[in-house]
Amino acid sequence: TPENTLYIRMGGEATLQKLVTLFYDKVAKHPDLAPIFPDDLTLTAEKQYKFLSQFFGGPPLYSQEYGHPMLRARHLPFEITPTRAKAWLACMHETLDQMELDKQVKDEMLSRFTTTAYHMMNTPE
Ligand code: HEM
Repeated sequence: TPENTLYIRMGGEATLQKLVTLFYDKVAKHPDLAPIFPDDLTLTAEKQYKFLSQFFGGPPLYSQEYGHPMLRARHLPFEITPTRAKAWLACMHETLDQMELDKQVKDEMLSRFTTTAYHMMNTPE
């Protein structure tokens, strides 16, 4: 296993578990995001934890359980507007700011989140 993955550098499982907990607490309170998410975000957070593990070069937990992520396709049932993409990224930015992460690690994570979030957009305003 590579030892210089973003997964290792951020602190692995403990960091990602904390990240998804903080992140979905914000999503649940965000007026642009809350309406398209389920009321109970337990499973959503668990799936995101498993996805991010492999996204950042750690164990492929999501694919082991759910198969190929097909992330854009899985988001098609939801109207993902530019406003929602920005809101998602704002929640993630705040989350990362709350965590004690190395600046370089944080910037790399945000950069990957930004590309992926814009890729998920499927609806104009
Ligand atoms: C699922 C919204 C971006 C990863 C979902 C769900 C919604 C959503 C509503 C369904 C939740 C559920 O039914 O449990 C959004 C919005 C985004 C966005 C508004 C703004 C651009 C992203 C990004 C990633 C991501 C950037 C990854 C880096 C996931 C994963 C799931 C998910 C892994 C679970 C898929 C599954 O059901 O197996 N998202 N999402 N999303 N999202 Fe996003």
